[in-house]
This record gives sequence, C-alpha cells and structure tokens, in this order.
Amino acid sequence: MIDRLRKSVQAIQGRAPGFVPEVALILGSGLGFLADAVECAVTVPYADIPEFPVSTAPGHAGRLVLGILAGKKVAVMQGRFHYYEGYGFAESVYGVRALRLLGAETLLVTNAAGGLGDGFAPGDIMLIEDHIKFFDDSPLRGANIPELGTRFPDMSYAYTPALREVAVNAARTLDVPLKRGVYMYFPGPQYETPAEIRAAKALGADAVGMSTVPEVIAAAHAGMNTLGFSLICNMAAGLQTHKLSEQEVLDTAEMSKGVFSRLVLRCLEMME
Ligand code: HPA
Repeated sequence: MIDRLRKSVQAIQGRAPGFVPEVALILGSGLGFLADAVECAVTVPYADIPEFPVSTAPGHAGRLVLGILAGKKVAVMQGRFHYYEGYGFAESVYGVRALRLLGAETLLVTNAAGGLGDGFAPGDIMLIEDHIKFFDDSPLRGANIPELGTRFPDMSYAYTPALREVAVNAARTLDVPLKRGVYMYFPGPQYETPAEIRAAKALGADAVGMSTVPEVIAAAHAGMNTLGFSLICNMAAGLQTHKLSEQEVLDTAEMSKGVFSRLVLRCLEMME
C-alpha cells in the first residue's frame, strides 16, 4: 500500500511541483462547487493519478484540485469513495492518505446526513464532535502502515478540539446557527430503518450518514487534525411522514450550499 501511495504522490507532485497543501478537503453532496473557487488551481483527474481509485457516485466529479482557497493552500478531493459503491475502506481512504503523504496536516470533511438530534431540522449544519461506527470493518484493518501511524491509534481527539473552536467562532462571525453532535456511520446504500434510527438515538447519535468516518479514522491514524461538518438534509427514517429519497437530500444540499460554503471558507480563513 505504501508503495502505491508513493507512486500516486509522485504523480501529483509532478503536476504541481513544490506544492504542499495545508488542508485536504473532502466535500460531500452539494459543496463540490467549492473546488471551482480554488485560485491558481491545478486540476488532476483521479484517472491520471496512478493507483488512485476512480469515483462512480452521481455528483462526484473525481478529480483533485490543488491551489489556494480562503488564503490556505488546499487539496480538494472532488469526489470521494463510498463503501456502498463497492470500494473497501482501504480504497475509501486512499486519497486522504495520499494527501497526508503530500504534506497536508489538516483534513476538512463535509457530508450530507439525516438528522435525529433534538431540535434538528433539514438545512441545519452540524459540527461533528465525535462519531459512532459499529460496522465491523475499519480502514486500518490488516497490516499497519507504520509510515502513516501506529497500530492502535487513539480516537479521543479525532475531531480536533482547537478546530471545533474555530468552527464555533467562524459560525458566530457569520451569524450562522451551528448545531453540534455525534455522527453515526451506516454503510448504506439503503437508508436506515426507523428501528435503526431509534437505536442510533438511544446510542447518542445526532446525525446518520454513509461517509466521512473511514476518512476521519485514516486521518487520525496518520496524525492529521480534522474538522467535520454534516449538512442535515432530511430527518432520519421514521422522523418524517414521507419516504426518504436522494432527491430530497440533493434539494436540501442545493438550497443550503450558500451558507454552508461560507462557513467552510470562514473556517479555512480562521485556521492557524
Ligand atoms: N441516512 C443516511 N445517509 C444520509 C441520510 C440519511 O438519512 N441523508 C443523507 N445522507
């Protein structure tokens, strides 16, 4: 794996010589357009990077955009790799690891999620304070990659406290209401059952979704600082009277992309 990663990193460096990103961004449904706001951008389709997985999900473009965003050197992954598409977790986190080896010390992730926290409503933005993953796989399963991190990494500070503070302050400066809570990972692609959502609630979850957690585990393993946000696109199964649909998720993501992107940009600006 480390040899594959090194090969990918070399190819990326060949396209943007000397460029070392400060922040790796993985943008979920609706926020992909932020990659178009990157200045001095070098765009590298995943297909041009040896060993890099290629994304199949609708709305996920599948390219890496390197440049400046809100004053920070960024590497934006436009398109991510979900388990439900058929990728193993090791493939899901491939990009995070490659960007870590390229020099990124911070990961900023966003996702679309179903909401179940008290007082949550579609359109809310939730700062991810922690996560629950009771699904049996892990991106770290198998031989450890010592060049990235240790065998049994701590997850107590996976969502970096100092960056959570940045997010709270950023939201305050923009007057954007910010929910906070726990994201629970479900592998999908089917949405959860109402019983699963009641169980998630009893376990302490505030939002549910099918992404982000593998990448955050890989980032924590590799010693990165992480900031994560969920856009609550629908109330989770059983908490609304109509059926869940991807269209509802995409509609909310589209409606909220202005405020959500402003918050992400302000966080980038305010990061040390
Ligand atoms: N469940 C899982 N993933 C999601 C949801 C949901 O309700 N909404 C958007 N992504």
